[in-house]
Amino acid sequence: MVVDSSSKKATAHANVNIALIKYWGKRDEQLILPYTSSLSLTLDGLGTETCVAFDEALTDDEIYLNGEVATGTTRDRMVSMLDLVRSMSGVSSFARVTSHNTVPTAAGLASSASGFASLAAAASAAAGLALSDRDLSRLARRGSGSASRSIFPNFALWHAGVDDESSYAEGISAPEDFRLSMVVVVVDAQQKKISSREAMNRTVATSPTYMPWVEQSKRDLHIALEAIQQRDIASLGEVVEANALGMHHTMHMANPPINYMSEQSEAILAMVRDLRKAGLPAWATMDAGPNVKIMTTYEDAERVAEAVRQRVYSMEYGNAIRVTVVRPGDGVQVWRS
Ligand code: PMV
Repeated sequence: MVVDSSSKKATAHANVNIALIKYWGKRDEQLILPYTSSLSLTLDGLGTETCVAFDEALTDDEIYLNGEVATGTTRDRMVSMLDLVRSMSGVSSFARVTSHNTVPTAAGLASSASGFASLAAAASAAAGLALSDRDLSRLARRGSGSASRSIFPNFALWHAGVDDESSYAEGISAPEDFRLSMVVVVVDAQQKKISSREAMNRTVATSPTYMPWVEQSKRDLHIALEAIQQRDIASLGEVVEANALGMHHTMHMANPPINYMSEQSEAILAMVRDLRKAGLPAWATMDAGPNVKIMTTYEDAERVAEAVRQRVYSMEYGNAIRVTVVRPGDGVQVWRS
């Protein structure tokens, strides 16, 4: 890690990640302590680059996101991260933050994981803190839970823990010849109607199936970790799809119900089942939005994407659906600005 400590400035890049076993629901809203441990795959080429410079001449934090001044909750959440770093480091000056997403908006993937992972890394480095990866994941977690996992390349496991100290992510080593890819199917690139934060809270507070999902999730995680070590793509795929559908099911049971699935999402989910019947290794996962990500092997990804494209074109509005292969990506990188 090379940091320009004299000028209190650093830049970091982090990629987004997709949860294979999901994080959904917090036991502590302020510290962002989750009910479940989660497992993810960091993706290549979809991320955020953030530069942070603490500057004594500033009279307030100046934050630019994709070239525009950040406002509202987005700004508040980023300022909270800067405040945390200031309290940890003793740096008292305001900061200038410029953050650019390299996640194309059309990718339909949330950028909060890469955004907060890169902000935590750049801000802590700029303030002169030399955090371990574990401590950096704990810091990133305070911005957005899923950001804790974007510190690491490839597979990452976020331990739910019981307090700030024990809730951290770490990289999971997998057999070298066990490499996954994701086929991202974007049915709608618009921003989600209800934030994951609000949807999670409502699920925890009102869904009668939330606690059973939490219990199931512990078993799912165990199966998934074992499947990775055994290079067993079918066992992994089955549990990945079941865990995600279980998460959506528990949201449907909330009051009022939360439904991120559109008719097109349902059609893609059915298509994935058909692909499996046709012998392709393909399992679906979905997050807080209507887009579907298909987990497959590194070698089969192009074939799966092509099979999806062919089927999609015959669907109504099918030509608006985008299908992209995404490979496993690197963890966070920090450098001199
Ligand atoms: O980190 P947040 O608050 O954006 O929540 C992410 C929640 C899911 O993407 C739906 C699941 C996950 O584990 O990433």
